[in-house]
Amino acid sequence: MAIEVTVSAQVPDDVQVLGVPVFAGRRQPDKAAVELDVAYLAERGFEGKPGEACAVPADDGSTVVAIGIGKPDEVGVETFRRAGAAFAKAAWNDTSAAIAVLDAAGELDRGAAAEAVAEGVVLAAYRFTKYKNEAKPSKLESLVVIGRGAKVQTGVDRGARIAEAVCLARDLVNEPAGAMTPTRLAEVATEIGEREGLAVTVLDEVAIANEGLGGLQGVAQGSEQPPRLIELVYDPPGARGTLALVGKGITFDSGGLSLKTADGMETMKTDMSGAAAVLATMSVLPALAPKVKVIGILPTTENMPSGTAIKPGDVLKIRNGKTVEVLNTDAEGRLVLADGLSLAVEAGVDAIVDLATLTGACMVALGHKIAGLMGNNDTWVTQVGDAAERAGEKVWPLPLPDEYRKHIDSEVADIKNVGGDRYGGALAAGLFLKEFVADVPWAHLDIAGPARSSDNDAYTPKGASGFGVRTLVELVTRYRKPARARS
Ligand code: BES
Ligand code: MN
Ligand code: ZN
Repeated sequence: MAIEVTVSAQVPDDVQVLGVPVFAGRRQPDKAAVELDVAYLAERGFEGKPGEACAVPADDGSTVVAIGIGKPDEVGVETFRRAGAAFAKAAWNDTSAAIAVLDAAGELDRGAAAEAVAEGVVLAAYRFTKYKNEAKPSKLESLVVIGRGAKVQTGVDRGARIAEAVCLARDLVNEPAGAMTPTRLAEVATEIGEREGLAVTVLDEVAIANEGLGGLQGVAQGSEQPPRLIELVYDPPGARGTLALVGKGITFDSGGLSLKTADGMETMKTDMSGAAAVLATMSVLPALAPKVKVIGILPTTENMPSGTAIKPGDVLKIRNGKTVEVLNTDAEGRLVLADGLSLAVEAGVDAIVDLATLTGACMVALGHKIAGLMGNNDTWVTQVGDAAERAGEKVWPLPLPDEYRKHIDSEVADIKNVGGDRYGGALAAGLFLKEFVADVPWAHLDIAGPARSSDNDAYTPKGASGFGVRTLVELVTRYRKPARARS
């Protein structure tokens, strides 16, 4: 159940737990909501570092939680996300809580700090407990952020909504592949569209074939589960431009006939994280009401081996007419994205972003927490990188060198779906995608690493992270139409 997050100038009498900020060296801000017993904090080893929390029982049976903020001159938006997260963990077994950390914001924009607090609490309180008999989820039902003014109110609403969208993406990805099939994903998208007011179109396997989506059809042909092409449209009055978001939706990636190892397959229900991030982003747009038209395109299928599966050496024809020799059936994401990107170009959008758990090579390059960022237009790539930075998601630019383009030349088709060797695999995948975006400004986020959290981070529990949602929301809400100059 969603946590109800509200704003109040005063601490309500009936909250069970109140969070207050404490700077490094156990110093409280000048006008603190509660004066803390500094000696008590010191005895418990609490120093005031970011991410620290220490519960102090009060005389009336309630609890005050000291929340570490770190040094005043190092306070940033991320400090508030982490403060919210530390508080959510300290208040795990309480139902009603209030947090008065904005006193520590100093020069920082109160709206941004308020947004980050709400985000941090909701994101950290998330657990996927659906299939556990003895789960211990957070009991938090209501959170009051102490503050005043329209900026704080807007920030808190926005932060809570965005965090709920991230949690939706996490739920979709954490769901086992046996349950979250392409058909089910399309049902969920349809339900969300109806509830939130988005136009949703779903193409079934027959329509996919008729529409010439040969990449999606080819990847799907080995599976008992039929594929779907899901399209969601958010079209507000007075839109200043049109943006397409394309997400890789492989609900399970076995590798196909180029079968993965048992270990390599363990986490492959996560291979629809790009699609989940796009769907979750779309779900929150009507509430946030940015003045940009956004089209979400989710090609979704399983990638399975069978007697009907695509074989190494087979040639597929993508929606835009280009032919692809499939030498490795495990490089399937780029095949379904090729159709998705072609559709985005046809829709006449002024910019495209795709998100995909695309290559192990990107994880070799950047590890578990950083996404690779590539594209064909520096202005647009920078805009995406800046959005990620503001959203607190880590991305790093990678090149798409023209001199590597020959690595995807094919003997029999226009291109092949793998590079020459395993080196620079993330770039070969990016160069492949580039073949399907024509001259439309396009950015590609390879989220193979950060889509899944391998440990319990500050506000990202182990499992699906929902990575990309915050970046996409930030990108859409501050969208500036890029010029069509190529780079
Ligand atoms: N879904 C995988 C990429 C992946 C691997 C994501 C590990 C998350 C964790 C993708 O479809 C894939 O299998 N890519 C291959 C491409 C190769 C065959 C060119 C890879 O990276 O090994
Ligand atoms: Mn694969
Ligand atoms: Zn894959």
